[in-house]
Amino acid sequence: MPEDAVISYVKANQERNLQQLFDLLRIPSVSAQPAKHGKDVERCATFVADSLRDAGMENVRLVQTPGNPIVYADWLHAGEGAPTVLVYGHYDVQPPEPLDLWTSPPFEPTIRDGKLYARGATDDKGQMFAHVKAVEAHLKTHGKLPVNVKFFIEGEEEVGSKNLDRAIEELRKELACDVVLVSDTAMKGEGQPAITYSLRGLIYFQVDVTGPSSDLHSGTWGGSLANPNEALVQALAKMKDPKTGKVKIPGFYDGIKVTKEDRAAVAKSGYPDSYYKKSMAIKALWGEKGWSAAERTSIRPTFEVNGIYGGYQGDGAKTVIPAHAHAKVSMRLVGGQNPEKITRSFEKYLKSVALPGVEVKVTRLSAGFGAKVPLDHPAMQAATKALSDTFGKKPVYLAEGGSIPVVATFQKLLGVNTILMGFGLHDENLHAPDEHIRVANYQRGIEASARFLHEVAKVPL
Ligand code: BES
Ligand code: MN
Ligand code: MN
Repeated sequence: MPEDAVISYVKANQERNLQQLFDLLRIPSVSAQPAKHGKDVERCATFVADSLRDAGMENVRLVQTPGNPIVYADWLHAGEGAPTVLVYGHYDVQPPEPLDLWTSPPFEPTIRDGKLYARGATDDKGQMFAHVKAVEAHLKTHGKLPVNVKFFIEGEEEVGSKNLDRAIEELRKELACDVVLVSDTAMKGEGQPAITYSLRGLIYFQVDVTGPSSDLHSGTWGGSLANPNEALVQALAKMKDPKTGKVKIPGFYDGIKVTKEDRAAVAKSGYPDSYYKKSMAIKALWGEKGWSAAERTSIRPTFEVNGIYGGYQGDGAKTVIPAHAHAKVSMRLVGGQNPEKITRSFEKYLKSVALPGVEVKVTRLSAGFGAKVPLDHPAMQAATKALSDTFGKKPVYLAEGGSIPVVATFQKLLGVNTILMGFGLHDENLHAPDEHIRVANYQRGIEASARFLHEVAKVPL
């Protein structure tokens, strides 16, 4: 079978494919730190483009945006009636800080115990690069691909993909395809492959509370005014009911419909509460009453305070009332919720509960929609077969708590669905110190991607 030759090629090139991933991981393409890493981001885009060219892809180019470049490539010779697969991924990574918590430096890839440690190993360089190596295996073995393939690899995912929707709109024709393939999600566990069929949306805010015109001596002035730090925490504390864990922003839950089937699916494929307790090393779980941890992290929305700062933070004591205080706040949204309505309601409610004398400013930093992929989509069958053949086990179907907003954008602007075939694991410290990927899953990811291209050619798209 021609397919076997491709898999043999992948197996024969494991060491080389690993070394090239090492080279990619050595580039500190941190999109959140343009002053420090802007050049590295450019270098990384070029590295990805060169890898695609070496793999045999054509029309490789960097699409310039007001931000970081997007890498585009295609190979369109599969012939009459052949479907087109668009591979999306991201080459940018999260900041590595705090550096002292890494066992080995974040941009010096290191293998320990079958795990490859580096910033971006699982999110998303390792997963994205698996597809580059998969097309290479096809092209070097047979000089062709079973389907038309386009690559669209962005460099601003970790900072909210500000310039992406615009680029997709402008490139609408070039990006035309039958299905999108993304590997930027997780498997269910070691050896248990998964396809993600649902993602949550995300809205993210900066909250600034301003009080007096200057910092004040807390003895002279304290007691006469609302302290901005306190005004901020008091207001934030009113966003959630401490008894029920319900979000109190008016209208927050409007439009949500969770069906019996949704709950049954999560009960079947989600982790038990004990997994959450153990993984997070926490004594007790807490959250919205009446829902399991698996449900609360997938099919229910959340409100989180991601950062909070204000006043004196140095050594020792300083008797001061700060002039201002700040917080970073985000909400994960599920199907039916209206991000615009919730944004307005949050701002209004937060201002209404703030103590007198302070000014509250709410700035939305980003907004992304969640998405659902129909389980009966024909490409789901192809992905199921590819994963089953690669891992020797049928995939489970997961509702993910994290967000990949471009999936909704592809639905809206290109009218296509996305297959989310993840090769990471939830315990691989993405966004945290000691991020890693199982080396075996990177290698299997290449195989699964190669098989997917073969299988997807056979289903009606
Ligand atoms: N790859 C993640 C999404 C993800 C997280 C999938 C966890 C599966 C498990 C992606 O790079 C990411 O970090 N997304 C951000 C949102 C984005 C708009 C910054 C997220 O979910 O916080
Ligand atoms: Mn990612
Ligand atoms: Mn990420």
